[in-house]
Amino acid sequence: MRGPRVVKSRDEFEGEIYETTTLVEGRDLPAMADGPFTVVGKEHVRVDGVQRVTGRAVYTHDVLLVGMVHVHVLRSPYPRARVRRIDASRAEALAGVRGVLHRFNAPEIEFRGEKTIFREEVRFVGDDVAAVAADNVDTAERALNLIEVDYELLPHVVDLEEAIADGAPKLDADGNVHDAGSFKRGDARKALRDADATVDVTYRTSTQLHNALETHGAVAQWDGERLTVWESTQSVFGVRNMLKDALKLDPANIRVLCEYMGGGFGAKLGTYKYAVYASLFAMRLGRPARCILTRHEENLAAGNRSATLQTLKLAGSDGRITAIEHTSWSNAGQGRWIANPTGPTNTLYDVPNVRSQAYRVTTNAGSLSAFRAPGYVEGTFALESAVDELAEKMGVDPLTLRRRHAASAVDPRTNKRYSLKRLLECYTIGAREIGWSKRRTGGMRGSSPHRRRGIGMASQIWGGGGGPPAYASVHFETDGTAVVRVGVQDIGTGTRTAVAQVCAEEIGLDLDQVAVRLGDTEAPYGPGSGGSVTLASIGPAVRLASREARDRLLAAAAGVLEVRQSEIRIERGGIVSKGPRVPLRDVLGKLDNATVIGSGIRHPNPDTLSIKTFGAHFAQVEVDTRTGEIFVEKIVAVHDVGRIVNPLTAASQVKGGVVQALGFALSEERVVDRALGRVMNANLEWYKIPTAMDAPEIVVRFVDRPDRKANNLGAKGLGEPPIIPAAAAVANAVANAIGVRVRHAPMTRARVLEALAGVP
Ligand code: MOS
Repeated sequence: MRGPRVVKSRDEFEGEIYETTTLVEGRDLPAMADGPFTVVGKEHVRVDGVQRVTGRAVYTHDVLLVGMVHVHVLRSPYPRARVRRIDASRAEALAGVRGVLHRFNAPEIEFRGEKTIFREEVRFVGDDVAAVAADNVDTAERALNLIEVDYELLPHVVDLEEAIADGAPKLDADGNVHDAGSFKRGDARKALRDADATVDVTYRTSTQLHNALETHGAVAQWDGERLTVWESTQSVFGVRNMLKDALKLDPANIRVLCEYMGGGFGAKLGTYKYAVYASLFAMRLGRPARCILTRHEENLAAGNRSATLQTLKLAGSDGRITAIEHTSWSNAGQGRWIANPTGPTNTLYDVPNVRSQAYRVTTNAGSLSAFRAPGYVEGTFALESAVDELAEKMGVDPLTLRRRHAASAVDPRTNKRYSLKRLLECYTIGAREIGWSKRRTGGMRGSSPHRRRGIGMASQIWGGGGGPPAYASVHFETDGTAVVRVGVQDIGTGTRTAVAQVCAEEIGLDLDQVAVRLGDTEAPYGPGSGGSVTLASIGPAVRLASREARDRLLAAAAGVLEVRQSEIRIERGGIVSKGPRVPLRDVLGKLDNATVIGSGIRHPNPDTLSIKTFGAHFAQVEVDTRTGEIFVEKIVAVHDVGRIVNPLTAASQVKGGVVQALGFALSEERVVDRALGRVMNANLEWYKIPTAMDAPEIVVRFVDRPDRKANNLGAKGLGEPPIIPAAAAVANAVANAIGVRVRHAPMTRARVLEALAGVP
């Protein structure tokens, strides 16, 4: 046995490397066998499916407490203004209003590096100006209209390309454009000079809004000593940390809960001010307080995938890509970071000469936030479109060109070997499923004279290896049910089901003998459920905890049954020995309330290996050349993410990712009025997310090979990979169909018609 010890671990999260100081103990388990398994690797419907569809599952929106006040937020109608004066007296005088907070009366609160939650200078339409607590929502809403604010308007800019142009209002002391990372290998300039063929192209992507079904929000309750907060969040520990700093409370006196949530897609990894308002009012009034954003607020002030402007230069010689130069600007709004769109350029292919540069651009718009594979969706759209453009110039089949650069077993960015890479296999499977051999340069006839048909594909790389810190405990109820406790969230991906499967398999239980408790800061620590890390982080710890609980249970059973421990094992929830099978409840029932408990730790990843996920999407489309409409007929999505714990929920992740990607590719686009700085479509009527009616045939395939070197479960993440390559695959299919390139996502009918008409 090895005692507890502190180790450093370096792991990837959303394209960036983070170092953690983590506590581990004992030895990691050897890699899980290939099988045969009774639960893992099998299709299981969600263990909480019935709760979800019958409405018994309690989401943050459903938390209604006796005496609760409703908190509504007054938001700036101007993109940039100084708040000169606030008169809230008429609001405060309204019957049922319990308090108003604004910058002239709020306590000093540190929030994301700023000293206040209400800025003197509001910086986007939707920025927080005041918060009202009232007995009911109507009163809260009426009170907002009674607050008088004097604004001094300041020059603003909301558009990315206007913000980087000369003469734009300077929003930050050092200008609007900020270095957000660069990368270089080889000599791209020289390779571009010496190339047989080059492309020099500009791509654009529009701002995408998450539109999770459940909007952001929190409910807070204060008992005079302890604060309990229900929040729709991807990170209960992240929320607790923020509240601890903002409210200067001990973390032990804050409990954050998120048992069920209606989606997050990255926007709920961060923390927001509404939880602070709810907590402040709960503490002041001694009544529970609820602050839930409306859909309109959600689409102003709860994050977005930033618009990008990207320039790419590619060089090709002798049928290979010899160089890529990629420069990217991202509209971060008021955000203080960006997701780097040049990530895939730096890592996807073994191209010898690469030069990339990313910039973050400040504008008077809502902050970007993480959005399902942030950066990589935008970057892959541009990179993989440009690779096709180069292939066409070189007269090489685009899949053949990719095959030449995708075989390497070494990560070209870090020079570490991949723990496992099966990208070529993804190509083979996808090409067969879509019928790549029927693809013709110049496209194919469509289903009517004005329709053209095309086929395209694109590749995917992403992290998702997970890592420490992550801890789990497993204990048995006296009826034999195993209870897993983990501090992660199930953001809709099926984490609860996968964790139950891992525990059931490890102990020898049926799935219905396992209960999973998650989304609670009173569980052992778990990471934010983002970056596709959840299962790869927590799964290996759940295996260890289950193993320890099982071994202790077997020792207990040996004592009760008066046999040697080596003569018994657990199978399908019972003790199996030479004698008759004994249900677990019979063993545990013979003990006086024994708690049989095991704990598990996520051990660090091997630091000599690069742990990545890979995939490829293939698309078949028809384009109506009269209307510009793109009809996606079929998507084949092939993914290499290690072991598939549940093929049913995994396929559902892929389908959801593809549909969300089609929104990005075809219809989703935040529209901001440049003069007023207002979002013109902050609703689900004019902001077009795909519906079930828009979903094409989606064929899902997995390589399904355990990544034994990555972690003891052999599983990697799948949340984000399926949204990464679909837009580029569609763009390439469209270009194949109509012979011209649409270089702006979403590829709306107008943009398709402009491309057909040769509008630059
Ligand atoms: Mo994600 S964008 O890490 O939830």
